[in-house]
Amino acid sequence: MKIDARTSLYGIMGKPLGHTLSPAVHNAAFASCGINAVYLAFETLHPPGCREAARALPIKGLSVTIPYKSRILGHLDSVEATAAEIGAVNTVANRGGALHGFNTDAGAALKALEGRMDLERTSCLLLGAGGAARAVGFALRGRCAEITIANRTGDRAAELAGALGCRWTPLPDAAGVRAGLVINTTPVGMHPETGRSPVPVKALEYASVVMDIIYRPRRTALLNLAERVGCVTIAGEEMFLNQAAAQFSIWTGLEAPVLEMKTAFDQAVGGIK
Ligand code: ATR
Repeated sequence: MKIDARTSLYGIMGKPLGHTLSPAVHNAAFASCGINAVYLAFETLHPPGCREAARALPIKGLSVTIPYKSRILGHLDSVEATAAEIGAVNTVANRGGALHGFNTDAGAALKALEGRMDLERTSCLLLGAGGAARAVGFALRGRCAEITIANRTGDRAAELAGALGCRWTPLPDAAGVRAGLVINTTPVGMHPETGRSPVPVKALEYASVVMDIIYRPRRTALLNLAERVGCVTIAGEEMFLNQAAAQFSIWTGLEAPVLEMKTAFDQAVGGIK
């Protein structure tokens, strides 16, 4: 890679970033399209500083992750309608010094599900009520027959259920929900605690499709349970790659080189199963 005075700068802001695969995937995309740009990890706990840095350096685009997806909203010049409704931004584009916020998580989740099932006829059990659950919940609102949120903390479940106009239940009662689609947005089962599933196999009794948004490990304990009882499983890498591809298009105006991005993901994730 040749870095010179014309090289554009992109990056991901958040903390912790030790395990992020975004640099691997985005640098591969830039390289494969012959775009003179680099993408770095900016581990920071200072959103206003990031805003100033983005304008001053300038940084052309940012991915936004934990813990800033909601907090970044107040530091932007504009927020696209979907991201404003969700209340979370995962993508920032710097256009002539003005910072615009987008959410590519919601569309990424929908893209992973569409074509695999008839969403209109399916009830969904959504595990978790945090930022990722908000994006998935808003993506599915009005598309799924019914949504039920199951969360460890009742207040958060009730708040998101209120925003989505759907039901909620405490996480231990998730097994009592009849749902054809189960989606995990909690970190339960994520590396290094890979043996845990957020729900017992009983919660999958009526499920035909189970999606996990965790991508490390690639096959979570939940997906292994789901496979064992005959469900179609959708691994977290699908949503991760979909959201990254949409970010690339927002930043460059080009179609994302999805095969190269997937290859870079496969190489970066290495031998982790
Ligand atoms: P994100 O932006 O990735 O969604 P978040 O906003 O911190 O992150 O939300 C994490 C979600 O995972 C929450 O629903 C959280 O439940 P609480 O609302 O009770 O905190 C859930 N979660 C995190 N750790 C969990 C655990 N060990 N068991 C069950 N749920 C957990």
